[in-house]
Formats: sequence, C-alpha cells, structure tokens
Amino acid sequence: MPYSANDQKWIQDQLNTDLIGKKIVLHDSVESTNDLAKTLGLEGSQEGTVVLAYSQTRGKGRQGRNWHSEPHTGLYFSVLLHPTTSPELIHQVTLVAGVALVQAINQFSQVRAVLKWPNDVLINHKKVAGILTEFYQGGDHNGIVVGIGVNVNQSRFPVELQHIATSLAMENSGSLEKLPLIAAIINQLEKKYWTFMDGDFASIILEWNQNSDLFGKHLTLTRGDETFHGTAMKLNEEGQLIMELETGQEMAFDSGEITSME
Ligand code: BTN
Repeated sequence: MPYSANDQKWIQDQLNTDLIGKKIVLHDSVESTNDLAKTLGLEGSQEGTVVLAYSQTRGKGRQGRNWHSEPHTGLYFSVLLHPTTSPELIHQVTLVAGVALVQAINQFSQVRAVLKWPNDVLINHKKVAGILTEFYQGGDHNGIVVGIGVNVNQSRFPVELQHIATSLAMENSGSLEKLPLIAAIINQLEKKYWTFMDGDFASIILEWNQNSDLFGKHLTLTRGDETFHGTAMKLNEEGQLIMELETGQEMAFDSGEITSME
C-alpha cells in the first residue's frame, strides 16, 4: 500500500531532528523524487524537506543510469539541503550522506553493509543502496538534493541487475519495515550534516574510512576515457580517494568509477 498520512506521522514521531523531515511530501508514483525535490527547491521549499515516493517511473542513478524503482519493495526519497559550501564541494555532502546511510542500514542488517567510494552501499559485494546528489540553482533559490534509494524487500531483480544488486531482505533472510529504516536514515543524516556544517569534515572522513572495506584492495578506476590500476589507500581530508598506482605514483581522485580486482 502507498504511504499514508499516518505513515508520515509515524516517521515524524521517530525523528529527533531540527531540520530534516519537518516537512515530508508523500507521493504514490513520481518520475524521480530528485527531480520533484529540485522543483520544490526552486519554488522555495524549506531546507530539510523530504520527498518520499512509493515508486518511481524514472528513478535516476549516477552517470545517467536508471535506478530500479518498483513499487512497495524499495525506499526512494530525496532531501533538500542548503549547505553554505560551494557547488564543487557537493561530493563532500555525498560522503556525509554515505556515512549516515551505512550506519542506519547497519542498525537493521545482521550482515555488515560497507561503503564503496564514492556513494554505494554494498552487502556481500552487491549494491543495496545508492546516493545521487544534485545541485539546483534558479532565481533566489539554490541548494542541493540528496537522493537516496535503498533496496529493502526485493526478493529478486531483473536479470541484468542480478549479479550486482541485492536487498536487505535477501541478505538477512526476511522482510523489513521501511518506516523505521527511513526514520533512522533521516536521524543519522541530520546528525552527520550538522557535523559537516560545523566544519568537522575530518570526523566524517574517519567514519567513512571505518565503514569501508576498500582500502588495501587492488582496483581499477575509470574516469572518462582514462583507466587507472592501483591500490586504494584512504580518503584524504578533502574526501578524495588516494590510490597508489602500479607505477608507484600516488594520485587523488575527486570522481570516477571503481571496480575491484579482488
Ligand atoms: C546510484 O547509486 O547510482 C544512485 C542511486 C540513487 C537513487 C535514488 S532513489 C531516490 C532518488 N530519486 C532518484 O531519481 N534517484 C535517487
């Protein structure tokens, strides 16, 4: 069943936030909660507004990909934020959201979820959640939208996703309630967002590093037409991925797509 006003109230009762989730906009079906949140942002909606949909007909992933968004099983929502950082630093907000997301998911999963740079949450090497952060600007209003998709109760995926996607239910052998999970994500996101806004990005990076199993692994990183092979070392204080390339040279990456060689 689509979300009801009672669900909204239930979520809000679980929140201990000053900002995120004070306003929650519910929809049965939208093209993309990110697009709708951007529209609301441009119309002047308040910071912290959450757009939550039961299904998406054109859910967006990174790099122009689709996000599989069937009704009922998954969690699809977007949060409007107005950080004071410049648009180039929105990848830092993605890392902030990643820490919040993995910690919230681990409150519900017996099998440990880990972060894959820059924004994936994996369980047993398959993707269980993703984040798409987008900037919007127009007239007097600008800000960012943090879109979060979590595979919660899917029991199977389309053939083309079966080797890369999983759900919390599949990994934990049993279905989960979505409402406590979204409330936990929002609570964590607000906590981490304030840490970030207070200037303590270092502790976000520390927690990011602690919640990833990437480091020490041999990886391939693709950035545009370029491919780099090497070992992931850490995220530096700016949130860039440091890799030691096979040539021995250390390089810092702002963006890219990684695949593990192990
Ligand atoms: C990725 O890992 O590629 C990012 C996936 C982000 C998916 C979410 S679902 C809610 C929000 N609305 C969208 O259209 N995308 C994000």
